[in-house]
Amino acid sequence: MKTRITEMLGIDFPVIAAPMFLVSNPELVAAVSEAGGLGTFPALNYRKPEQFEEGLKVVNSLTDKPYGVNIITNKSNIYQEQHLEICIRNKVPVIITSLGSPRQVIEEAHKIGTKVFCDVTNLDYAKKVESLGADAVVAVGYGAGGHAGKIVGSVLVPWLVENLKIPVIAAGGIADGKTLLSALALGAEAGYMGTRFIACNETAVNEEYKKSILESDPEDIVFTARVTGAHANFINTPYLERLGTELGFFERFWTRFSFTRKWFKMYKGYRAMKGMGESASTGKKKAWKDVWSAGQTVGLIKDTKPAAEILAEVVREYSEAKKKLP
Ligand SMILES: Cc1cc2nc3c(=O)[nH]c(=O)nc-3n(C[C@H](O)[C@H](O)[C@H](O)COP(=O)(O)O)c2cc1C
Repeated sequence: MKTRITEMLGIDFPVIAAPMFLVSNPELVAAVSEAGGLGTFPALNYRKPEQFEEGLKVVNSLTDKPYGVNIITNKSNIYQEQHLEICIRNKVPVIITSLGSPRQVIEEAHKIGTKVFCDVTNLDYAKKVESLGADAVVAVGYGAGGHAGKIVGSVLVPWLVENLKIPVIAAGGIADGKTLLSALALGAEAGYMGTRFIACNETAVNEEYKKSILESDPEDIVFTARVTGAHANFINTPYLERLGTELGFFERFWTRFSFTRKWFKMYKGYRAMKGMGESASTGKKKAWKDVWSAGQTVGLIKDTKPAAEILAEVVREYSEAKKKLP
């Protein structure tokens, strides 16, 4: 399966295991990259930049194939400069930026040949990152796990493909061979799969979270800004139901002015990361405060298996689905 992304990275399959806060660990990254896709993880998975560098060393000890690191490039990430420095020092093959301007990352990364992919949810922003020199965009469509866009992928992807010169990677709604085939048919040059990889053997999240991925339907996914201050998708747990999906009076007030909005988002982001950390961790006791992020593909996920088997299955299903097309 050759696309501009597989050629650019020297990988076998146009499948990227998307970076997932507190879910993607070095074992998952290495398993996907070893199996011919691209494994990735967020630098923010580690509380301190030094720990992130240790994490990189673990990845490098497990694979010599290309892999990627996600850096959050807005002000909520107080370590972004250190994350970038560590990536450059360790010659990370791919950096994926999200939530803020990728300018500095692109400038520094390109000096050592590191590729930079940027998360985008609309054409304006996609054009901006292309003009800054991004190597590809990740088109995050409606229904994706984590922070998602408001445009459905089946429109966002071809819209960006038509208007950009750099490759477009489709994110959101891809969990198997059929959905990968549909993304490539729309012009995407790789599929970015997050939610599917939560339910795999390598992730160290608690079993209730994995079970919830297998048992949830697309209707159980709630798109709300209430948890992090920016719109994201979550499984509708009893805790989320109690929290509600609309911002409260004071929260709406804080988001009215640009200065207070910035601090409000940082505060919400910090609280959400803490809550998600507690909910995802394996040793947790309390089940009353579950904040589990996932996309609408939960409806397509029926089993937990090793990441390499997921990838092999996706590739097999892709070929079968292609043959079955009328
Ligand atoms: C639990 C979870 C955590 C995520 N954390 C991050 C993150 O830290 N950084 C990021 O850029 N995207 C994050 N995402 C978004 C994914 O990278 C990706 O865009 C998304 O999962 C694709 O949609 P899908 O879940 O439908 O496959 C997260 C998604 C999930 C489900």
